[in-house]
Amino acid sequence: MLTSETIHPDKGGMLTRIESSWRIGMIQAVLEQEGAYVFRGEQASLMLQPVNASIVRVKLLPDHREDRGTTIAVQPEAFVPVASHLAEEPELYRLTLPAVTVEIRKQDAVLAFYTAEGELVSDEAGLYQTGRGQYGCRKRMEPDSHVYGLGEKTGFLDKKGEKYDMWNSDIYDPHVPEIEALYVSIPFLIHYRYDKPAYGIFLDNPGRCSFDMRSDTESYTFQTVSGTIDYYFVLGPDLKNVIQGYSRLTGTMDLPPAWAIGYHQSRYSYMNQEEVLTLARSFRDKRIPCDVIYLDIHYMDEYRVFTFDPARFPNPVAMMKELKEMGIRIVPIVDPGVKKDPEYAAYQEGIRNDYFCRKLEGELFIGNVWPGASAFPDFTDEYVRSWWGEKHRYYTDMGIHGIWNDMNEPAVFNESKTMDLDVVHRNDGSPKTHRELHNLYGMLMSMATQQGLKRQLDGERPFVLTRAGYAGIQKYAATWTGDNRSFWEHLAMSIPMVLNLGLSGQPFAGPDIGGFAHHTSPELLARWTQAGVFFPYCRNHSAIDTIRQEPWAFGPEIEEICRTYIRLRYRLLPYLYTLFHEAHETGLPVMRPLILEYPTDRKVYNCCDQFLVGQHLLVAPILRPSTEYRTVYLPAGEWIDFWSGERFEGGQHVMAHAPLERMPIYVRAGAVIAELRDESWKPVLGAGARIVLAIHGAQAGTRVTGRWYEDDASTYAYEQGSFNVLEVTGRFDKDAMTLDLRYLSKGLPNYRETVEIEVNDLNFVPKQMLVAASEGETELEAQGGSWSFDAESSKLKLAVPSAFQNITVKAVR
Ligand code: GLC
Repeated sequence: MLTSETIHPDKGGMLTRIESSWRIGMIQAVLEQEGAYVFRGEQASLMLQPVNASIVRVKLLPDHREDRGTTIAVQPEAFVPVASHLAEEPELYRLTLPAVTVEIRKQDAVLAFYTAEGELVSDEAGLYQTGRGQYGCRKRMEPDSHVYGLGEKTGFLDKKGEKYDMWNSDIYDPHVPEIEALYVSIPFLIHYRYDKPAYGIFLDNPGRCSFDMRSDTESYTFQTVSGTIDYYFVLGPDLKNVIQGYSRLTGTMDLPPAWAIGYHQSRYSYMNQEEVLTLARSFRDKRIPCDVIYLDIHYMDEYRVFTFDPARFPNPVAMMKELKEMGIRIVPIVDPGVKKDPEYAAYQEGIRNDYFCRKLEGELFIGNVWPGASAFPDFTDEYVRSWWGEKHRYYTDMGIHGIWNDMNEPAVFNESKTMDLDVVHRNDGSPKTHRELHNLYGMLMSMATQQGLKRQLDGERPFVLTRAGYAGIQKYAATWTGDNRSFWEHLAMSIPMVLNLGLSGQPFAGPDIGGFAHHTSPELLARWTQAGVFFPYCRNHSAIDTIRQEPWAFGPEIEEICRTYIRLRYRLLPYLYTLFHEAHETGLPVMRPLILEYPTDRKVYNCCDQFLVGQHLLVAPILRPSTEYRTVYLPAGEWIDFWSGERFEGGQHVMAHAPLERMPIYVRAGAVIAELRDESWKPVLGAGARIVLAIHGAQAGTRVTGRWYEDDASTYAYEQGSFNVLEVTGRFDKDAMTLDLRYLSKGLPNYRETVEIEVNDLNFVPKQMLVAASEGETELEAQGGSWSFDAESSKLKLAVPSAFQNITVKAVR
């Protein structure tokens, strides 16, 4: 409980927000140097560095000292040669890039950003300094401005009217709208208005900073506590371009191994080997798919990382062997705190080689975490990261391919809740305090982990899950949203939280399904599982001393609901996997807010009680208890009720019936969804998987679109082109169906003889199936294919021999 002291007028934060009259001042000279422009003002200089045609970096140089350094979040290869041109006018300078123009006012170095066509995108009041010497920037907001991104935050989708801090924090309680910082900090804001170009601001500062969209209705600010202002202006003009631009800057995710996007089961903690095996057997006996079981802190010997408790887990290798036969993997937790114990190898190595964090004076930073007094590796140095990565041979030698990083904000059980701010990180030769680098700590730990695993896994893809992170975290790990509670409100909040993570470059995220702390209820578990299987990351996890929440914990009715929806996730794995590939290529999220796909629809700017998975599936979870109906907004187009097949016109709200066993799901008419058809419930993607391309809503006038990405599902061979992308387009007419199948890439060995297609609700009875390729038109059967039509269900099934590059299949009446 907090007391009134919380609102003491002299408490930190309140004073620091006062702007002083400091300004850069009049520009006195301009220097063009190696692709950057330095505008020398009276008090400070401003550097403008073109990154590519539509991204400009803006960096304040307080002592006029030039510094091109970036944090590790920025990909060096993002900087490409750009044709830029600087012109001088009486009042201003104009820097022109192919897609953006920046005007710099001579009088005070205030910036305005325009499109190549001359449309104003963003203007500002300029940079300022607070009374306490902290720098900030104020930019214009308009009545129809909407703000997205900003990583992992509480609240709704649209962040206008909110204020947040970026400071990785271990918040067990409470995840409420007024909590300004959680575990992950992504200082990336998207500014959006209807009919106007969208843009993003990435503030590359891993110290504490704030984004304030609340204090003024006509402007927003971003402000740092340490270091300078160093931001990237990312021009859209579309929302998708902004995300793609930001993703180019900070990198995109690797493709996860397919098992990492299955269903995962966790608990703090499965206490011993027998319990883990019994759990795994239950999944298999109950025919509920599950790819991963997590080992929380009790697997360790008194919470020493890189150990197993000899009493609880006497033979982890035998346990893992049995699990492997069942097709289930182990992901153990690894925290950064290394127990201070002179007889413990990891601690000894860290001390002997000086791997742990120290103060300037040389004193080791020792903080209390699960193992008691612990030292913390200084992940800001490459040699420490590589040591830490190597330590993971302990796990990979046992066959472990995935690691769960927790407490890496870092969380410390002390008053500040983290590492002392006067720790000096070595930072690869350019030492900085923890105060300046705090938000990078967790990401660097995951980077070390992922790179270590990659070195050890012989071409197999690892999986890393992290609680803390900074911009660019998507390159190293998936994130879960930390210690939520079994509250309906937290189920609802997980949607905008994960949507905004996706808009902030992190596509692979999800909450603890069922809620971590507090006690779930049968109904909440059912509803949360229904929604949770559509999140990119899908894990049920719960805290010690809470009621059990495995899918069968509440008897057969709830178990059956969980089974149905977890199986549905597996049925949709090829579609999800295709979306992960898109995220890898472009940075676009898997789970999408409606505004991303329907940016001109004024009804959806803050819509976050429903969401899209890719472009084709619309999911409308039930977010309150004892609720059997909800309204669903269907955006433009036509939508098919996934359960009943009923067709709806978009652009309207519909009332969906949702008894406990049903969560409303809609499929875009004409969508092609790649589905896994496997009844073993030990499914895997890749060679041998039976995959069917399901087309929904085949009525006259419907246009068909969809893609299916496939690779070996587990190795990095896809980086060498070993993958297929099949694009399906086409249309349905009154008495004909035309499908164009085209491999955009065909680098895989031949996994299957035919491409299977299933057309639902065909609007006519087909008599003939023709295939047109470069050699002319023939019957499908003559090509070695087959088809059947079931008049009762109006379902057409096709098997098209896969030896084509480009083919048209035509059904005629
Ligand atoms: C933290 C994590 C939680 C984990 C627990 C014990 O609270 O957020 O997921 O179960 O620590 O390791």
